[in-house]
Amino acid sequence: MSLIVCRDLVKTYSMGETDVHALRGVSLTITAGECVAIMGASGSGKSTVMNILGCLDVPTSGTYELDGVDVSTLGANRLADIRNRKIGFVFQNFNLIPRTTARENVQLPLFYRGIPSREQQALALRALERVGLAGRERHHPSQLSGGQQQRVAIARALVTNPILILADEPTGNLDSQASREIMDMLTRLNTQEKMTIVLVTHEPEIAQYAHRVITMKDGIILSDRPVAESQASPVVMEQAGG
Ligand SMILES: Nc1ncnc2c1ncn2[C@@H]1O[C@H](COP(=O)(O)OP(=O)(O)OP(=O)(O)O)[C@@H](O)[C@H]1O
Ligand SMILES: [Mg+2]
Repeated sequence: MSLIVCRDLVKTYSMGETDVHALRGVSLTITAGECVAIMGASGSGKSTVMNILGCLDVPTSGTYELDGVDVSTLGANRLADIRNRKIGFVFQNFNLIPRTTARENVQLPLFYRGIPSREQQALALRALERVGLAGRERHHPSQLSGGQQQRVAIARALVTNPILILADEPTGNLDSQASREIMDMLTRLNTQEKMTIVLVTHEPEIAQYAHRVITMKDGIILSDRPVAESQASPVVMEQAGG
């Protein structure tokens, strides 16, 4: 089933006198259960695509269907609702709230859904367990390593059971060891829990974890290729115990 169908997405920012053509006609279909990496030079439009896929922004023209719903015509409230129910976000800089515990950070999307506090806590603890952070729930972000902070962010993305995880350079601030751990975790969510994942990366080694690599250039898709079976990360299943 097609989870994401984008047709001819155009995004133009007008900056006073000049227009910036961030996207110049991007068409893209992603099937439920895929793990897709988006690559391309700085400024090629990767984050612009991710923001539209994540219902954080709307295209200037073109259509976007998410899970059978044309979201390109929806207003801000409906978009926020879809974001909260269907999408989990992971960012390069983790985006955790400082001076707040790991558990409370993970609870936040549940709080916005109006879920009772007890249930929020129980679900947050379970999500932290899923990312291997049982016992760290009372730590503040500053008391966690970069890799652990990103795992808290993944727990926060997971806790609402989204159908789609969007990760914009999830390993951009991590060393290679922590990067591997985060990619193993994301790949595990994809293979074992059938979660659809779209991630942006600059690093070819990270893109090899995906099934498919889309390369962007100057606001268009330059290539869209499957990752050869033999190139896909060989260690994913062995490390699945976490
Ligand atoms: N809010 C904005 N207003 C004006 N121009 C913007 C805005 N956001 C992005 N752009 C421009 O759109 C183009 C695409 O930006 P985008 O952030 O999508 O690139 P990117 O591929 O994610 O780059 P990077 O790898 O550096 O993160 C760039 O030329 C950028 O300057
Ligand atoms: Mg970007």
